[in-house]
Formats: sequence, structure tokens, C-alpha cells
Amino acid sequence: MTNLNNQIRRKSWSHFWQQGQLHSLASSMPDNYHGAIANFWQRELKSLTTEHAILDIGTGNGALPAMIFQIHQENMPEIDAIDLAEIAPAWTQELPEKIARRLRFHGNTQAESLPFPDARFDLCISQYGFEYTHLDISSKELARALKPGGRLSLVLHHADSHLVTVAREELRHNSWLRSDASPLITAPAVLPYLQMASQGRVAELAQNPSANTARSNLNQAMQGLSAIAAQSAYPDLLHESAEFIAQVLGSTGSGIITADHAVQRLQHYQQALEQAALRHQELCSCAMDDKGIVHMQNLLTQHGIKDIDIAILKENNYLLGWTLTARKSS
Ligand SMILES: C[S@@+](CC[C@H](N)C(=O)[O-])C[C@H]1O[C@@H](n2cnc3c(N)ncnc32)[C@H](O)[C@@H]1O
Repeated sequence: MTNLNNQIRRKSWSHFWQQGQLHSLASSMPDNYHGAIANFWQRELKSLTTEHAILDIGTGNGALPAMIFQIHQENMPEIDAIDLAEIAPAWTQELPEKIARRLRFHGNTQAESLPFPDARFDLCISQYGFEYTHLDISSKELARALKPGGRLSLVLHHADSHLVTVAREELRHNSWLRSDASPLITAPAVLPYLQMASQGRVAELAQNPSANTARSNLNQAMQGLSAIAAQSAYPDLLHESAEFIAQVLGSTGSGIITADHAVQRLQHYQQALEQAALRHQELCSCAMDDKGIVHMQNLLTQHGIKDIDIAILKENNYLLGWTLTARKSS
């Protein structure tokens, strides 16, 4: 759980899910989760029937409900999927009415205060969600909402995972991209001159020393970006930003967009970077080390959860997280 206040977190995640990604690793897994994560869930979800009631915590755009639907189709269990964020997963709009009725999304709903009666669910699941919650409270809530004998299956962020390593590096790049040394900050000074060039006012430009200064500052910032990218094992964000800036400059220089419009696009991009930084910070701070997972285990035990089995989830030597499976006492 992070210290960021819930309103900021809700806004940031709501904005993320509104863009339509099915899950939070969309850049590395374009469709739904696959590989080791999908294999874990296939095992955990395959025995479900229409008689079962499932709770998904921190569902986002419903990647786990989508997986359940894929496995069970019209025989899928009832699912209640909750999230702190405002959510309206687009993929559910295409579901047949009979199935859509069995799948309920509850946005603006916190795991610390579940709007369900005691002993409602046969299985509680969460994929990179439960660890984002206030565990002292949500563990009790989760145990309350499970039926006696009900199961719990979680995939959780691990402090040493590949995802955390990449998130830390991207946070460093993200912060540099919003600093004075970044081409995102130096680019706006060049835009009026690019607009002049697009209007054929080349002679005027040649005599303008400010135009040369602005261009040289931007070139220097672009070189700075390339130098940092060259030294990084995970330079995707820097490359993506360089491409975006080049595209905005190109469109201004060829008169496709005005300088004002270009400034707006650069500002939107910076806002998106701010939001991404919040999500990456959350990921890093909720990821659990050995001590953290033992703490979660103790909390769950206190609330009557037993047979807790904790394992490491790996794919091709990449650490992806912890898995935790358990059962509520009968
Ligand atoms: C990393 S995303 C995972 C989403 C989804 N399970 C997936 O695999 O794509 C974490 C989600 O947890 C939600 N979340 C964070 N704190 C929460 C809380 N206290 N109660 C409910 N949801 C929460 C966030 O809004 C976000 O959608």
C-alpha cells in the first residue's frame, strides 16, 4: 500500500483504464496475460462452474474475468469485480446478455470496504491488485466475504521482479524527461520558428539568433536523451518520447499543426508521464519482499485463512511475482 492519497490514485488508475488496455502489462503482453501468469490462472480457474461466486480485487479492465469467460464461456461462474478506479471495460459490451448478467463490475469500490454480505464468495482472486490495498483492513474484509472453505488465489508483485526493475528504470527516465534538461522542455522554444519555416519565412529565420539558440538547446537535449538511452538496459520510454517529439516537430515544420497545437500536445504528453510515474511508484512501493509476504501471510492467518501456499512465479528466468493460494477455515 502506498502513501499517495486515494483520490490521486483513483484519478491516475481511472485515466489509465479509460485508455482501453485490458491489463497493466499491456506493453509487454498485447492481448491478455500469457505464459506463466496465464498457466497459473488456468490451473486456479479451471474447476469453476456456474454454481460458484467469484470476487476479483483490483480488477482494472477485467483481465481475470476475461480469462474466466475465455475458459468457461456460457458456463462461467458469477463474478463481482471491484476496483478503486472508475472502470467500464469495453470488452464486456460484446458479451451476450445471459453472460453479461453474471459479470458485475464495481468501480469506485475499495477492497477495505467490500459492499458484499459475509460468506458470499467461493473464490477470491487478484492479479497484481491485493498488494495495492491497505492490507490490515482488506485481509479482514476478504476473509469476511469468503465462504467457509472458500479459496483464495493471488498473483502479487515481488520486490525483486523483472517488472519492478523495469519500473524503477522507467521512473528514473520519466523524471529526467520532466526535468529542464529534457527535449520535452526545450522543444516549445523551437516551435514558433518551425511554424515560420512552414510559412516559407526562411530568410527571416536565418537572421534570428534566438532561433539558432532554441535549435541548439533542443539538439543538446536530444543528444542527452540518446546518451542516457544508450546506457540503459530498458530505454523504451526514452525512445518512445524521442519519436513523439520528432513527430510533433515534424508536423509543425510541415504546417500540419500550429505551434500552439504542438505545445498542447507536448503538455498532454508530460501530464501522461506524471500519471505513469504515480503508477510506477505505486508498483515499486507495494511490491513485496520476503518480510512483506510473511506479513501478509500472518494477517491472513489472523483472519482464519489457512493452508497458505506461497511460491515464486517465473518465466524464462524472469521473476514475475509471488503466487499465494489458501483456503478459509470451514
Ligand atoms: C496493477 S493494477 C492491476 C489490475 C488488473 N488486476 C490487471 O491485472 O490488469 C492494480 C489495480 O488495483 C486497484 N486498486 C488499488 N488500490 C485498491 C483498493 N484499495 N481497492 C480496490 N482496488 C484497488 C487500482 O485502481 C488498479 O486498477
